[in-house]
Amino acid sequence: MTDTIRAVRGMKDLLPPESRRWQQVEAVSREIFARYGYQEIRLPLLERTELFARSIGADTDIVAKEMYTFTDRHGDSLTLRPEATAQVVRAYLENGLHLGAGVKKFFTIGPMFRYERPQKGRYRQFHQINGEALGVDVPELDVEVILLLLDILKHLGLRDLELLINSLGCPVCQVDFKARLTIFLARREGWCDDCLRRRAANPLRVLDCKSQNCQALLMEAPLLRDCLDDDCRRHYDRVLELLSRFGVPYTEQPRLVRGLDYYTRTAFEVTAGGLGAQDAVAGGGRYNGLVKELGGPDLPGIGFAIGQDRLMEILPEQDSPAPPRIFLAALGPPARETAFSLLRELRRQGLAAEFDFQDRSLKAQLSLANRLGASFTVILGDRELAQGRVLVRRMDGGEQQTLPLDGLAAALAALIAREKDEHRV
Ligand code: HAM
Repeated sequence: MTDTIRAVRGMKDLLPPESRRWQQVEAVSREIFARYGYQEIRLPLLERTELFARSIGADTDIVAKEMYTFTDRHGDSLTLRPEATAQVVRAYLENGLHLGAGVKKFFTIGPMFRYERPQKGRYRQFHQINGEALGVDVPELDVEVILLLLDILKHLGLRDLELLINSLGCPVCQVDFKARLTIFLARREGWCDDCLRRRAANPLRVLDCKSQNCQALLMEAPLLRDCLDDDCRRHYDRVLELLSRFGVPYTEQPRLVRGLDYYTRTAFEVTAGGLGAQDAVAGGGRYNGLVKELGGPDLPGIGFAIGQDRLMEILPEQDSPAPPRIFLAALGPPARETAFSLLRELRRQGLAAEFDFQDRSLKAQLSLANRLGASFTVILGDRELAQGRVLVRRMDGGEQQTLPLDGLAAALAALIAREKDEHRV
């Protein structure tokens, strides 16, 4: 016997009924994005490797260890996108979306790829809901982005959320901070091999080390917020002031640097109870140097990404009634012919209708109707057909009524509408 082929490690199939809950989450997100004026962009899964190397940073784990990179038949180095921000900026520049004044707001939803060690909440193909606002650098926009993110999460019924926030300052503040941090890192011993490498290449990355030992050593490290210049300090204070004004609780986390190099000023994460070790359900921040770094004008940006897989793991159970389904149970070839035409008619009326393609006993058909969660089963037999009528059975209570075959689709549509009004289906 030949072996069956399995999915790639760290990549999962998304099956019903779970897929329906994903659709609902995406529908809620789209609605809230629209409320805040964000428009959807859909981007390729593949980009030139250089895009990510230049934006995320060569010393980050993502670029150094986690990218799915290959050479295509033409000899170009391509990478399955590990995140969306760099490519949103690429598309923004390439399509001239940056032209014209004012803020431009986009959202994009889809799979990302990182070669990480799979565990609960961490996959090699995972999914993000991204929002990005480009062109304006004012603290009000930072707060709008954070409110938008929290609005989406709250509309989905998430509670127990914690907003962690920090300011990474601008490149000028970072020069000062990196100098102080470099001195600190050189004076301590016991850093892991990765950090010894990071210390030389980009000391900020040491702050993001996952090793407990390094984190303990970092407890006394200098803090970014002590190196903020006046403008960055004012920007950060205003963000915090506005969050307080809107009653948004936050925790300042002075060592939060995030896993990507492009951040400047405001950086944040949202953690949620119930996720275990991988507890960040979303992350984001300002990236004022990124557009320029990618060859564009000096335009600022800010955004976030929600980890949709993690979100789904903590989403409260919700009633998600499927559309009321009508099942057509037909006995005998003439009844099946009629039922097949009726199926088409019902669907044209906008109703969800199903039929047994296998021509089995009434008992088997009724049990299929139950399995599909049908609200009503229409029973068509030779006798009913001869009399020009059908039997309609409610599947929850078993009550039955007879309806004329003539005009049946419209009568069922009216019946379902009435039941919906009375909240019976
Ligand atoms: P990130 O923190 O790398 O940021 O990812 C954002 C979220 O994606 C994380 O908080 C997490 O929920 C989810 N995530 C990341 N890696 C995995 C994984 N391997 N498995 C499952 N979920 C994962 C970014 O990607 C930035 N582009 C966010 C951003 C947008 N910043 C500005 N705009």
